[in-house]
Amino acid sequence: MVGLMVSFRPMARVSLTSSAQTRSLDTIPTPVRFGFGRPVTATELTRLDIDVQPDGKGLPAGAGTAVQGKVIFAVKCAACHGTGGTGGLGGALVTTSMTTTAVVGKRPDKTIGTYWPYATTVFDYIRRAMPFNEPGSLTDEEVYHLTAYLLHANGIIDEKATITAQTLPKVVMPAQKLFIPDDRRGGPEIR
Ligand code: HEC
Repeated sequence: MVGLMVSFRPMARVSLTSSAQTRSLDTIPTPVRFGFGRPVTATELTRLDIDVQPDGKGLPAGAGTAVQGKVIFAVKCAACHGTGGTGGLGGALVTTSMTTTAVVGKRPDKTIGTYWPYATTVFDYIRRAMPFNEPGSLTDEEVYHLTAYLLHANGIIDEKATITAQTLPKVVMPAQKLFIPDDRRGGPEIR
C-alpha cells in the first residue's frame, strides 16, 4: 500500500500543472485485471451470506423447541446472561412481562420481549454474534432451539411450539406496535 501511495502522489501533482502530461496519462489503457483478488466461490459466499430478513427470507432449514433450547442455553449462554437469561455480564435477555407493576409507567429494559420488533432478528443475531466469545460456532439447529427458548422465556410463544423457517416469521413481537414506520422523504415536510 505504501508503494502505491508514493508512486501516485507525483502523478496527481503533474495533472494539476501540465495539461500535456495529463493527456498522456489519459492514454494509458485501464488494465482489464489488476492482478490481485479472485472471484468469490459459491461455497464461500454461502458461508458469509447469513442475513435473515424480517419476513424470514434467508432462514435455513431446521426446527427448534424451547425445551431443547433451555439445555443449550444453560451450557453455552447462562455464564454471561444468567440462569434463564435474566441478567449477568452480557445483560438480561428476558423480561417476563411488559405489564407487570415493575415496568408499567417506566421505560423497561430493552430486551427481546420489550424492544425487538421482529422474531426473525433473534435467529439472525444469535447465529451471527453469539456466544460472544465464539460467534459462528452454533449449528442452525442449535440457533432454532435457542430462539424458541428465548421467545418462550419472554412469554411470546408456547413452550410446546416448534420454531421453523415457516413459523418464526409469523410470531408477532410485543414491541412491534411501538415502532412507527418513518416514511418521511425529507425536504420541507421535515420540521
Ligand atoms: C462471553 C459472554 C457471552 C456469552 C457466552 C453469550 N453472550 Fe450473548 N451477549 C454478550 C454480550 C457482551 C452482549 C452485548 C453485545 C453488544 O451489545 O454488542 C450479548 C448480547 C446478546 C443478545 C442481544 C441482547 C439485546 O437485547 O441487545 C442476545 C439475544 C444474546 N446475547 C444471546 C446469547 C445466546 C443465545 C448465547 C448462547 C449461545 C449467548 N448470548 C452467549 C455476552 C455473551
